[in-house]
Amino acid sequence: MSHSLVTMSYIVATILFILSLSGLSNQETARKGNYYGMLGMAIAIGATALSASVSSYVILMIALLIGGFIGTKLALKVEMTQMPELVAIMHSLVGMAAVLVGYANFMDEGSLSGVEKTIHEVEIYIGILIGAVTFAGSVIAFGKLSERISGKPLLLPNRHFLNLGLLISAILLGSWFLSSAEMGGGTLPLLLMTIVALAFGVHMVMAIGGADMPVVVSMLNSYSGWAAAATGFMLSNDLLIVTGALVGSSGAILSYIMCRAMNRHFLSVIAGGFGTASGGEAAEIVGEVQPIGAEETAQLLLTAKSIMIIPGYGMAVAQAQHTVYEMTKLLRGKGKKVGFAIHPVAGRMPGHMNVLLAEAKVPYDIVYEMDEINDDWSNVDVSIVIGANDIVNPSALTDPNSPIAGMPVIECWKGETTIVMKRSMASGYAGVGNPLFVQENTRMLFGDANAMLQAVLKALNA
Ligand code: TAP
Repeated sequence: MSHSLVTMSYIVATILFILSLSGLSNQETARKGNYYGMLGMAIAIGATALSASVSSYVILMIALLIGGFIGTKLALKVEMTQMPELVAIMHSLVGMAAVLVGYANFMDEGSLSGVEKTIHEVEIYIGILIGAVTFAGSVIAFGKLSERISGKPLLLPNRHFLNLGLLISAILLGSWFLSSAEMGGGTLPLLLMTIVALAFGVHMVMAIGGADMPVVVSMLNSYSGWAAAATGFMLSNDLLIVTGALVGSSGAILSYIMCRAMNRHFLSVIAGGFGTASGGEAAEIVGEVQPIGAEETAQLLLTAKSIMIIPGYGMAVAQAQHTVYEMTKLLRGKGKKVGFAIHPVAGRMPGHMNVLLAEAKVPYDIVYEMDEINDDWSNVDVSIVIGANDIVNPSALTDPNSPIAGMPVIECWKGETTIVMKRSMASGYAGVGNPLFVQENTRMLFGDANAMLQAVLKALNA
């Protein structure tokens, strides 16, 4: 393929990626956004494969087949609840790719000299640095999201100085690398910097508390973009630079949105241990739990005029979205006003609940964001919390020692009655007790969310 045709294809792919991102910013256009993205990626891979930079088609085909096979197998096998972990481990692959490409570039003598050679060495150094931080951070995030590693922040003594030390050593090693690379060396400082970057990535994510993981997920998403852009610089591939920058900056915007949603400062999240520094213990929950059965729940729903459903991670675990929508249709058919209230960090990844509700074909116009409904609770007769916990925890607003202190939550207790569906009194992801469960106007419907919803549906139909 001629150079200008490759460039043209890259421009088309870039436009498709931008359309994809803008499509993904809205539920109604998200599906279209996905198609744009897939088409853009197909064009990008096709044009790169046919460009003059490919020297061995056999190796390329083998790599494509192996990668495609593993990707397809994983995508078919993965449960919706494992998606966040899958995304985290994918980010780690982008980081690892940047490291490997960096080392390959370093070992390749090349024909560059003078300033161009120095610039290339800086690209290699930065690429490996960002790649190694992304790789190590994402592996730890994978461990935390899949609960293989405890969600509790690891707070080493003098951790801020430790981070500062790692940063300073990365800078010093950089100058050592550049001066020795000039004389044909540089392997040792590069290897040392890789170890420093890996340690930094591990330490950074280990120090972040469970409740702040949403910010980490989006932050690593951003890092993986910058790692891809760095790879693009090393390979002189314009499309990779642009795509990496798009992912990097959209991830950064998402991190900002997540921080705002959780009322956190980005820097304090990165510094780690947020919400645990105050020293005091989170308050114990005292009070009486009032259980309720499926039939009684159905009766409450039949007498209500306005119903608000608040889904959380447990709805994803129970795969209850289809039954929820069945119930919604039935209640709306009886003239009830039914809506869904979505917290920005509900579930385990940005937009988790929206994806599940879209899968069940819940109309978008009855799905509200937290801010849209938090002033309107006086008009809600019954709210149903389905497998949510942290996002409806009043102690976030009242207990300064809580790990989720300051995080805005869905204030469903301000409605007339709240029904909470979950299997036990267990805490949520942040590991804190929830006083909502013992509020006077709360009823607990214990059991698997899907089984309970089916029982309520049966009672409604009886
Ligand atoms: P959580 O606070 O994790 O609570 C989920 C609840 O669902 C649990 O208390 C659990 O209680 C219940 N549950 C689990 N399986 C169930 C089933 N089969 N049927 C019924 N209930 C079930 O979830 P949330 O309220 O959605 O809050 C999200 C949390 O995750 C926040 O702390 C957030 O910071 C964190 N987080 C979010 C993200 C993103 S980007 N959204 C990423 C990482 C972390 P039982 O065991 O008693 O059933």
